[in-house]
Amino acid sequence: MDMVDIRDARKTYEGGFEALRGASLQIREGEILALLGPNGAGKTTLISAICGITQPTSGTIRVGGHDVVKDYRQARNLIGLVPQEINLEPFEKVANTVAFSRGLFGLRRNDALIEDILRKLSLWDKRGAAVKELSGGMKRRVLIAKALSHEPRVLFLDEPTAGVDVELRRDMWAIVEELRQDGVTIILTTHYIEEAEAIADRVAVIDKGQILLVEDKDSLMERMGQKSLTIDLTEPISSVPDVLSDYDLVLKDETTLVYSYDINAERTGIGRLMADLSGAGLYVRDVSTRQNSLEDIFVGLVEGDAA
Ligand SMILES: Nc1ncnc2c1ncn2[C@@H]1O[C@H](COP(=O)(O)OP(=O)(O)O)[C@@H](O)[C@H]1O
Ligand SMILES: [Mg+2]
Repeated sequence: MDMVDIRDARKTYEGGFEALRGASLQIREGEILALLGPNGAGKTTLISAICGITQPTSGTIRVGGHDVVKDYRQARNLIGLVPQEINLEPFEKVANTVAFSRGLFGLRRNDALIEDILRKLSLWDKRGAAVKELSGGMKRRVLIAKALSHEPRVLFLDEPTAGVDVELRRDMWAIVEELRQDGVTIILTTHYIEEAEAIADRVAVIDKGQILLVEDKDSLMERMGQKSLTIDLTEPISSVPDVLSDYDLVLKDETTLVYSYDINAERTGIGRLMADLSGAGLYVRDVSTRQNSLEDIFVGLVEGDAA
């Protein structure tokens, strides 16, 4: 079943700016989807529309089968949201803040659950501290604890690791993985490609209010994967010899040639290239290969769109 179903969502802000321009996206139950896009792409707007914080101008959005506008309450009950901006009551104590969030959903008090959440997020020792005494990273943990307090089936994390330290980032990834094992559907927005690469099952790329692509991370990386072979030469050269002009070769510096090839092509051309190099009087000291990352793919997509 699709846990989140977005069809042709549009959002025009007051003043006329179109932040969503017909976005469609289906998110499966239990998956981790990374919504990847540059600043201003519409990530927060899309999440806000799904969570009922902002109303889409047109289109339909369903969560767990409930229309987020018409059946707001049922939809919202399924959703946990970790917002991009820290919005906490500074004088409230950590544990109270989290327990209160649960109460807002009309759920019975559950001290054991709140304790469990606070412990998982390394907040238990800080449970009696006022929010304003916490560091930025700790406040972010409190936001996550709040979002989990009513046991959501879908969790939205809006740029959860922007500006956080390495330790918190790693903790966050571990928490996400644990939630996935509990069957929680997770949508995470990020402009850090390495984050999508590290934890997502699927990647959706958004730019200028439109979803440009949705694909399994692995197949995306494979399908669009280009590899490059770096060749170190024993002697410097000033240009790529004419006899090698048929190859996609770049002279990076005078002893380094870079050959790009498609990993899915029937022949990579490496064997012939090696022979032709030696025919051209060039001697190879060493070679290494590198597979393009999601970053290369992403930059290519977004740049192509801007043209
Ligand atoms: N309340 C608003 N009023 C007008 N424009 C807005 C508002 N919120 C966001 N925008 C604009 O909509 C675009 C998308 O913003 P946002 O959804 O926050 O992008 P992202 O989260 O991908 O960085 C941006 O150009 C932003 O300036
Ligand atoms: Mg945002």
